[in-house]
Amino acid sequence: MYVVRMKKILITGASGLLGNDLVCTLSPHYNILATSKTKQNQSVEVLDIRSRKDVIDIVNTFKPSIIINCAAYTSVDKAENNKKYARDTNVVGLYNLVKSISEDTKIIHISSDYVFDGSKGDYTEKDFPCPINYYGKTKLEAENLLSTSNLNYLIVRPNVLYSNDLSKEHFLSWIVSSLSEKKQLEIAIDQISNPTYVPDLTQLIFDAILLDYTGILHMGSEDYISRYDFAVKVADIFGFDRKMLIPVDSSTLNQKAKRPLNSSLNCNKLKTALNVELYPTEYGIRRANLSI
Ligand SMILES: NC(=O)c1ccc[n+]([C@@H]2O[C@H](COP(=O)([O-])OP(=O)(O)OC[C@H]3O[C@@H](n4cnc5c(N)ncnc54)[C@H](OP(=O)(O)O)[C@@H]3O)[C@@H](O)[C@H]2O)c1
Repeated sequence: MYVVRMKKILITGASGLLGNDLVCTLSPHYNILATSKTKQNQSVEVLDIRSRKDVIDIVNTFKPSIIINCAAYTSVDKAENNKKYARDTNVVGLYNLVKSISEDTKIIHISSDYVFDGSKGDYTEKDFPCPINYYGKTKLEAENLLSTSNLNYLIVRPNVLYSNDLSKEHFLSWIVSSLSEKKQLEIAIDQISNPTYVPDLTQLIFDAILLDYTGILHMGSEDYISRYDFAVKVADIFGFDRKMLIPVDSSTLNQKAKRPLNSSLNCNKLKTALNVELYPTEYGIRRANLSI
């Protein structure tokens, strides 16, 4: 009898926006262990990556050949007041994963455009990171500890994740739920990025696994767009009144954490290295709308 041995992948943060999508897409192809800090359904096991002991126990038992680390403290504003919690999750958590594995295990780690200061935009993987808020600092410290390890690693830096899953918190679901309640929204016109449609990021990670790609990769849409213009596209495509959206400068928003104003990511490396096609932001929003 021919026995197929599926590669084992441990996914942390599996209840989150990206983690959940990865679990759904990769499950038919790999033996997946989905973990998260809190148990949210039967198919997710509890693993708080801040606990070295728990991380080692789960890694020794499951013996993954790949770990995809989607676990993170993602609230940029709250991180300013909860520095220890944010660092324990984003840095110590990754350190625990690194310390639990041998050189045979690959780590795919999700970082962020917020490692950049946002002063120039169109950042390539060779540009010098210089975060301006605490969340960004933890993301850079985590990158550094991985890139100075001897491990086989891939760091993916996406920006502004959104998907068709309106049960999760993200920029698109916030706009859709607010506009459906006829709430007026003030949205930054001076924060520029190339938002990432989650299924495209999942596909990139899938391709990178197949090709065993290593190093750092930027991932986003083809075009650079302000938060306000993104929201207008969402309103138009989802059939809401765009007049409910008010363009404002970031300085008027009283956000606790400073935001990099132009953190757009140049994704040319991805196109050449993995032959991945990038799509316009509008195409991502249209796909999200169609698949709800
Ligand atoms: N969302 C964005 O716009 C964006 C942009 C750029 C980069 N990123 C990066 O992309 C990655 C995925 O983001 P996301 O939006 O999918 O995040 P998310 O929806 O906020 O999910 C975060 C996940 O991490 C888990 N988690 C939090 N603390 C943990 C801990 N101590 N131990 C284990 N799990 C823990 C959460 O589990 P519980 O729910 O059980 O707490 C949840 O499953 C993160 O690294 C984030 O920094 C996100």
